[in-house]
Amino acid sequence: MTRSFILLITILMSFNHCTEVHSETSKDSAIEKKIDSIIKKMTLDEKAGQLHQIMGSFGTVTDDLRGQVKSGQIGSVLNEIDPKTILELQRIAVEESPNGIPILFARDVIHGFKTIFPIPLGQAASWNPLLIEECAHISAMEASSVGINWTFAPMMDVCRDPRWGRIAETLGEDPHLSSVLSSSMIKGYQGNDISEKGRIAACAKHFAGYGAAEGGRDYNTSLIPEAELHNIYLPPFKAAVENDVATFMTGFNDLNGVPVTANKYLTRDLLKNKWAFDGFVVSDWESISQLAVHGFTENQRESALKAFKAGVDMDMQSYSFLKHIPMLVKEGLIDQRSLDDAVRRILRVKFKLGLFDDPFFDPADFPEMVNDDYREKAKQLAIESCVLLKNDDQTLPLEASGISKLAVLGPLSDDPYEQLGTWIFDGDEKHSITPLQAIQEYANGNFEVNYLKVLETSRSVNKSSFNAAEELVINSDAVVMFLGEESILSGEAHSRARINLPGCQEELIDEISRMGKPLVVVIMAGRPISLENVVNKADAIIFAWHPGTMGGPAIADIVFGKVSPSGKLPVTFPKNSGQIPIYYNHKHTGKPPTKEKAVLIDDIPVKAKQWSVGNVAYYLDAGYEPMFPFGYGLSYTQFTYENLKLSKDVLTSKADELTVRVDLVNNGDFEATEISQLYIRDLVSSITRPVKELIAFQRHALKPGERKTIEFKILVEDLAYYYPEKSWSTENGNFDLWVGGDSRADLKTSFKVKK
Ligand code: BGC
Repeated sequence: MTRSFILLITILMSFNHCTEVHSETSKDSAIEKKIDSIIKKMTLDEKAGQLHQIMGSFGTVTDDLRGQVKSGQIGSVLNEIDPKTILELQRIAVEESPNGIPILFARDVIHGFKTIFPIPLGQAASWNPLLIEECAHISAMEASSVGINWTFAPMMDVCRDPRWGRIAETLGEDPHLSSVLSSSMIKGYQGNDISEKGRIAACAKHFAGYGAAEGGRDYNTSLIPEAELHNIYLPPFKAAVENDVATFMTGFNDLNGVPVTANKYLTRDLLKNKWAFDGFVVSDWESISQLAVHGFTENQRESALKAFKAGVDMDMQSYSFLKHIPMLVKEGLIDQRSLDDAVRRILRVKFKLGLFDDPFFDPADFPEMVNDDYREKAKQLAIESCVLLKNDDQTLPLEASGISKLAVLGPLSDDPYEQLGTWIFDGDEKHSITPLQAIQEYANGNFEVNYLKVLETSRSVNKSSFNAAEELVINSDAVVMFLGEESILSGEAHSRARINLPGCQEELIDEISRMGKPLVVVIMAGRPISLENVVNKADAIIFAWHPGTMGGPAIADIVFGKVSPSGKLPVTFPKNSGQIPIYYNHKHTGKPPTKEKAVLIDDIPVKAKQWSVGNVAYYLDAGYEPMFPFGYGLSYTQFTYENLKLSKDVLTSKADELTVRVDLVNNGDFEATEISQLYIRDLVSSITRPVKELIAFQRHALKPGERKTIEFKILVEDLAYYYPEKSWSTENGNFDLWVGGDSRADLKTSFKVKK
């Protein structure tokens, strides 16, 4: 998957459109005509009503709600998931409201509806666009079966700060990986034809820069220079438009002094005008009325005006548009044409979803939720999400035949709820299979599984069960510990200043590691965890994120070697919180650190002279390298890369293409999948460029001993970047190129662009 590959798909799709230009245009123009005739009939209040989204009443149609729907005051309802209530509200809207406009029913279906897949950050560790697409389709099917026709996903905020609780919902720190995977999610939710049964409208959120919340504290201000905004934070949103995402959501954050819910440059100028997005933009929850709280507006009326003028079309829950837009139009502060445009955008999505033709649904038309096929996909994605961080002396996989007693310890061994992760409004723990259950099934009487929870929760500091845990370990051949964070410790508003294992889990590892038994630590968490105090004490570490409904069987398959882990980190793991922000695609600086120059605190002689430490960019107490780099993940086999070759040394025109070939070899005796990553560096440029940038990746499954030549194609435009005076372009000059299994890849060559 390269940037040009995404573009190629888009071009091919538009070519398809071209060949069908007649029918497409006529279909679209038919919709636009219908919209015209509806808009003509609408009163000012009814138009403002379309721009208004409110919370449902949890399975009831209150008199108030009935009245508002009937009078055409509601464009969308969120968080109603009772099919009967949805059907009744829809009936009132289409049969009794003035213009019979159907309602959009929205829900946060973030990583599954009933079948819960790994958290998005975990999904990103799979680097598997197709599987992610399939799983998003399952989510859409399940959600549609209760009447949901719009999800507030995917979230595509690039994030470089694991303290931020919402990193769990992101696809990591890299713009390219986030673009590819969020595009897959959009395709999974929307399909090729969003009106098909089981497809729902997706929402690209949060536009933009929310993931750069200062200090990783949720809702905090983002300060992002123009070039960083375009090069790092906006690419997934641009890709979303190219993939026809139906809607966008603004964020809660202030970006460089202007809250993004009132940011005209982002929403009206860039998204709607430059990128030609033709869907609609919803605010975040009450983020319009919060403009006054930011100190950006005087009152709710001004908030409505500024948000609307900036390009927000629908107000989530704050009533600002419903209350103030009619008067703002009457006073001439908002013109009719802009109001009609906002209404048109919302109606367009409703038409595209087919709601005007068939606003109703029958739950019986859909496959059963959490069925075996869905569970199988959830298991596969959970397997591919697991990242093997450490595996000394091939501790893993555990040889079941060599074990007679296995100790299973830890608060997350058998907790069907906590393995589901954040944002699982509709997930149900009763469908979960826990690691303990799955391990017991594996054991099947062939070895003993001795389980102790030890700590009540991941936050517990009560060590009273430590002795019992030690007893149990003395009598076991190996130990598997399930540690991490409960779901509630990540997600919206759940940021942490210290991202180590909470409670006394580190001390538990200390105690158990002293006993000298093979120790496997499986961490389930909603963010990268700093493992500085842990990494040398465990023999093997699997990072399983919050793996969802099928987390247990997925982990068991990896622990016992039914499958090799293949996940790779979508985000850098710092040694400790003090290193944050730390990310792979940083700048070189004028004083780049090296091992020799970065003298660590304990090696500095007493009374050493001020300049004795090397004068490079690093921390005296944490060096400059992370614990685990972006793209990293071990396998049960060893892959090597050899014979890196380019089809040419110089790219001479804009349309020129570079073919990169490299041999990938499976040197071990385990069949496994490798995620091969291609990085470049633009060596000299008008503004400095990162030391490495991921521009393509591929997945390959290789048998033991197998060798395969893999091939990447790079276009000149894949090398483009944004810089303020020139927008996007590829500059002439020298580039380095690496291929390998993580962002430390050192198999390197170089080429030139000379257009
Ligand atoms: C979140 C959004 C979410 C919305 C609706 C907000 O608090 O920021 O991501 O879609 O609530 O639930």
